[in-house]
Amino acid sequence: INERLQELVDWENGLIGPEIFIDDEIYRRELEQVFGRAWLFIAHDSMLPKPGDFVNTYMGGDPVLAIRQKDGSVRVFLNACRHRGMKICRAEDGNARNFMCTYHGWTYNTAGELINVPNLDTAYFNDLDQKRWGLVEVAQIDQYKGMWFATFDENAVPLIDFLGDMTYYIDSWVDRTPSGIEMLPGVIKWTIHGNWKLGAEQFGGDGYHAIITHASSLGTFDPGFLRDIKGIEFASRQGHGYSMIFDRMTRFADDPLGRYNNDQFDSRLDRLGEDRANTVGNFTVFPNLSGLPGSANLRVWHPKGPNEFEIWSWTIVDADAPEEVKRAQRTSASFTEGAAGVVETDDGENWDLIGQMLERGTQTRKMSWNYQMGRGHETDDDPIYPGRVLRNYFGEGPQRTFYRRWLEFMTSEQWPIAPAVSPERHEHEATTMGA
Ligand code: FES
Ligand code: FE
Repeated sequence: INERLQELVDWENGLIGPEIFIDDEIYRRELEQVFGRAWLFIAHDSMLPKPGDFVNTYMGGDPVLAIRQKDGSVRVFLNACRHRGMKICRAEDGNARNFMCTYHGWTYNTAGELINVPNLDTAYFNDLDQKRWGLVEVAQIDQYKGMWFATFDENAVPLIDFLGDMTYYIDSWVDRTPSGIEMLPGVIKWTIHGNWKLGAEQFGGDGYHAIITHASSLGTFDPGFLRDIKGIEFASRQGHGYSMIFDRMTRFADDPLGRYNNDQFDSRLDRLGEDRANTVGNFTVFPNLSGLPGSANLRVWHPKGPNEFEIWSWTIVDADAPEEVKRAQRTSASFTEGAAGVVETDDGENWDLIGQMLERGTQTRKMSWNYQMGRGHETDDDPIYPGRVLRNYFGEGPQRTFYRRWLEFMTSEQWPIAPAVSPERHEHEATTMGA
């Protein structure tokens, strides 16, 4: 299969065979090689404020429970009973002291220990070592500025190295105020009949689609939005991507949000420097965390099959913003990026139709798709921005590096280490952050 994958993913020449979006064998391998090993986004601190708070989510195909512990740490367990594999918790989120499996009643505490087994005496003759049958825990968990990630692989590099030069860009929206970000309560979830990578690659680098796909929806509330977009495209060797738009903070200019953003400008300038103070964008953290800071949106693409994925979408706000600004953020985010958002539905239609064609056809699967935009015009030595940078808002560098990284995960036996950010870059970042 490795040979076949190498043929399908010719990232250097910007050519991708769409089998990688529909093939069953490739999909099964992806769950194991990519989702079984990469650091995956689990939850934000603000979603788990108190001990016993939990969030039910997925790491690839596997359901996991993230639980806030009494000592303030977060632990992540497979949401699967050790007796017969039933889910031990079916609520989306909440607060619990224990989790009782509804099949035969084995009960686990928030630390994952098996604390009760019905009929231990009459059924097991007291002959069951409960200590050995606690919940299965992930190999590593860590957080970056309140965002918790986990991996099933004990050999994964530390989270900070996995994120690499992407942290410079993450900081551009996480560090706008001293208190950082907060996720507003509630998550919108919906299903698209397509492959999860179609969403992930688009958010990493496809600003190009917006002028056509979103021409009418964006035009309804800001006719000038798509004119003269200035910005850059960043492609990380670690597979992440960020398309940054300059001189803009939001899609809505004249509302509480616009006024708030203007008022905050000087403090943002202090914290982020002029290269990031007034920017928004769209991004993907490899493999499946994406966001649109300008629309206050953070999301995960959960794979549900080769041709099906779920979008889980949250509203992110500055934690210390006034209530009316948070309300405006929520309205803005659901109006554009909710399941029925005017922008979101445009994208869903594309992904859905592409998925339909690949599923039903045979000839369209044999095509070679073009990912060549901006090739040869990027630099690894931009004087300001770290990573591989294209000084243009349109380009497909992030998609090329996304698939380069994907191919490395898919074809390597060892955890695939990619070269780290160069030391000069860290220095640059340190001086900018110190401002
Ligand atoms: Fe959970 Fe039997 S499957 S108690
Ligand atoms: Fe879009």
